[in-house]
Amino acid sequence: MTTKEKVLALLEQQKGDSVSGERIAAQLNISRAAVWRAVKELKESGYKIEASTRVGYSLALTSDIVSETGIRLYMGEHFSPAIHCYPSLPSTNRLAKQMALEGALHGTVVIADEQTEGRGRNGRSFYSPQSTGIYMSMVLRPHLDAASAMLVTTAVAVAVCRAIDSIHGGPAWIKWVNDIYVDGRKVCGILTEGISGFENGAIESVIVGIGINFSTPIGSFPAELREKAGSLFPLGVPQKVSRNQLIALIIMEVLDSIKHIEKRLFLEEYRQRCMVLGRRVLVIQGNHQYEAVAQQIDENGALLVRAENGELHLLRSGEVTLRVEGQGLTTGK
Ligand code: BTN
Repeated sequence: MTTKEKVLALLEQQKGDSVSGERIAAQLNISRAAVWRAVKELKESGYKIEASTRVGYSLALTSDIVSETGIRLYMGEHFSPAIHCYPSLPSTNRLAKQMALEGALHGTVVIADEQTEGRGRNGRSFYSPQSTGIYMSMVLRPHLDAASAMLVTTAVAVAVCRAIDSIHGGPAWIKWVNDIYVDGRKVCGILTEGISGFENGAIESVIVGIGINFSTPIGSFPAELREKAGSLFPLGVPQKVSRNQLIALIIMEVLDSIKHIEKRLFLEEYRQRCMVLGRRVLVIQGNHQYEAVAQQIDENGALLVRAENGELHLLRSGEVTLRVEGQGLTTGK
């Protein structure tokens, strides 16, 4: 850790409270001038730090800059080999994929404060404005055959729900396969991309991209999203935690649920959180659409639906949107 990072860690730990320059210097075994220089650099990087000769330095409670130091503070002993934070990227999935191909280890995380070409599923884009969202991708190397790859998506959806519930109260619901809803609005989308071995077709690594509307004001969403997109802490809702805290929780939950993925321990929770089970849905598979009732999630995370003609279909890909009685269809995205 650099001196700047060490000072930041200390101020983050005491967020909102004043810490004297003398105490910081003593704790880090550096001079008071070095503390002053570190604080100056932090302020230049955008941190809101109050400085007074009488009481010392204090990091504003509202400070919400995503950084590796800020994230690791909340991660305990959990292993994540590398956490890369960037002010702006075209897409964190794109960079994480490149890193995975170059040998990045299991658990590597790529985060951006904004994305200029954020990607969603089915070729859509993902709205990724600066400073109000979480845009992160993880490189995972689970020991799975290609047939079970869908389990990663399922496990990650449950992990993100758990993290959201613990900081927000939730409850967070999953719309198959991996959209996360709170209070009837989509607050998170997950994009999973697999890299398989050239020789045997086995899954070498999986890139899991997680996009969360953290404090995005509802009115700022593009018109086509405004009806369905939501945010965890929209304007007027007090932001109880920082983005660093939620990112740390997500990393820990994801690494935990992937550890014993083949045991499928998260599947029962996935079923309980799945908002489509037992409900009428519109199934969309490419250009083909039909109405059905969602029946069950199978052992690999696939969705079993009963079409109107009574036929059962097991969906391993595609998309469903909820049919709300009397209101037509709610688009799921
Ligand atoms: C969807 O809802 O269609 C999935 C959205 C996934 C968005 C995330 S944001 C971080 C990562 N990088 C991307 O370009 N996309 C994913």
